[in-house]
Amino acid sequence: MLSEALEKARAYEEKYSVFIKDEDRPAFHLSPRIGWMNDPNGFSLFRGQYHLFYQYHPYSTQWGPMHWGHVVSADMLRWTYLPAAMAPDQAYDQNGCFSGSALELPDGRQLLLYTGVRERRREDGTLKAAQTQCLAVGDGLNYEKHPLNPVLDEKDVPAGFSHHDFRDPKMYRRPDGGYACVVGDRTDDGSGAILLYESDDGESWHYVTILDRSYNEYGKMWECPDFFALDGQQVLLTSPQDMSQVGLEFHNGNGTVCCIGAYDDALKRFHRQRVQAIDYGIDFYAPQTLLTADGRRVMIAWMQNWDTAVAYPAGTKWFGQMTLPRELHVRDGRLIQTPIRELDALHGRRVAYENVPVGEESNLKGIYGRVLDMTITLRSQPSKPYELFRLKFAKGSQHYSDLVYDARTSILRISRTHSGCTRDFVHERECFVRDRGGELKLRLVLDRFSAEVFVNDGEQALSMTIYTPMTANGISFEARGAALMDVEKYDIIV
Ligand code: FRU
Repeated sequence: MLSEALEKARAYEEKYSVFIKDEDRPAFHLSPRIGWMNDPNGFSLFRGQYHLFYQYHPYSTQWGPMHWGHVVSADMLRWTYLPAAMAPDQAYDQNGCFSGSALELPDGRQLLLYTGVRERRREDGTLKAAQTQCLAVGDGLNYEKHPLNPVLDEKDVPAGFSHHDFRDPKMYRRPDGGYACVVGDRTDDGSGAILLYESDDGESWHYVTILDRSYNEYGKMWECPDFFALDGQQVLLTSPQDMSQVGLEFHNGNGTVCCIGAYDDALKRFHRQRVQAIDYGIDFYAPQTLLTADGRRVMIAWMQNWDTAVAYPAGTKWFGQMTLPRELHVRDGRLIQTPIRELDALHGRRVAYENVPVGEESNLKGIYGRVLDMTITLRSQPSKPYELFRLKFAKGSQHYSDLVYDARTSILRISRTHSGCTRDFVHERECFVRDRGGELKLRLVLDRFSAEVFVNDGEQALSMTIYTPMTANGISFEARGAALMDVEKYDIIV
């Protein structure tokens, strides 16, 4: 039986989403059916299709009582909207169905585990949220909230940890066939932590251990964890609030962190060895992963950041985009991310150049557009190393965004300062890239309202949204000192 709140959301999205034209959305990045979208939820395979849910407020382009939006796809790039999956309609989730995850059960049903939020008024009149972990079970279209909800609450949180900030359970199957989930939390001093829970059947859950904690080193509350084995290592992803920057890392306030280490499943102990930012651009948060049938670990994230979520043109009927799904690896102790290979199947017209000398700002015939996948390989001319390289894109008479590489410092900067953003905060980020004797490989994926850059086959990724008018579709190249460049550009055809 559908609740009144869910029926209302489904009727609303069906009635009003038809007014959004395809060309006013990204072509191959997910945007909400209508209204507001934040974190990816329940990114998973179910009955041979990819399912993705998302934090959703259909009624406006602002965050509000959280529903779960729902899409399916065969390639993780071209998504079909399904009716909203969940609405806040129970006492324990009356203030929102927050982030969570999904799995296929052995009996063929789909299990959703999410955070139910219920606000309570304290004696002094202020509101305090109780966050609990809840289940819903369904057939890939309709879901019933579980009669035993909530399945994890206050009594399952260890002493000194919070049940007000206790959210975003990410489930996975254990090697012995059981279930586990990691949940974001914080200690009494506000510092982030990840708690581990297990279950034999996916329904009855118990506390296991504190998997990792920040001791105030990497931000405050740790949101949206994910935990998986990759290339012989163990990876913990999380999105800390209120991060302090360290060198060129963690400049977004709400940041993302990849911890690489080792996990002993018998002792339930994670030994964190390395920590890095996941994305070095402006808009990236709350990533979640799945494992494909052919064994690839694929990550998708909200291509937005809470601090910049006010900066979009007035009058839009949707807000929020997901990043490209990215295949992950660990190489030399670092996270490597590349666009999923399914993107190659959407490649249209190819334009390519080899060994082009770059100097004064110039264009190349056939190299322009806002929906494309372009790779540039840059080298120094043998006699004269170049000092600076600059690529402008989404360029019109008034606007552009750019990438600037300073070969003397090995720092790459991405900027949308001149993109026509409605808010003039600092719109640039920098990262160190590996110096390969002056050779640099930049893959730029543009999709109308965003730019994602993958450096040196995925050693760094930098993502940002851009709301520059579509008429700004120029691309130009420029170098100080003598550079040589190969360019290969594909239009993306959806
Ligand atoms: C992260 C987050 C989650 C929460 C959700 C609410 O972006 O704050 O911790 O579940 O958004 O929409």
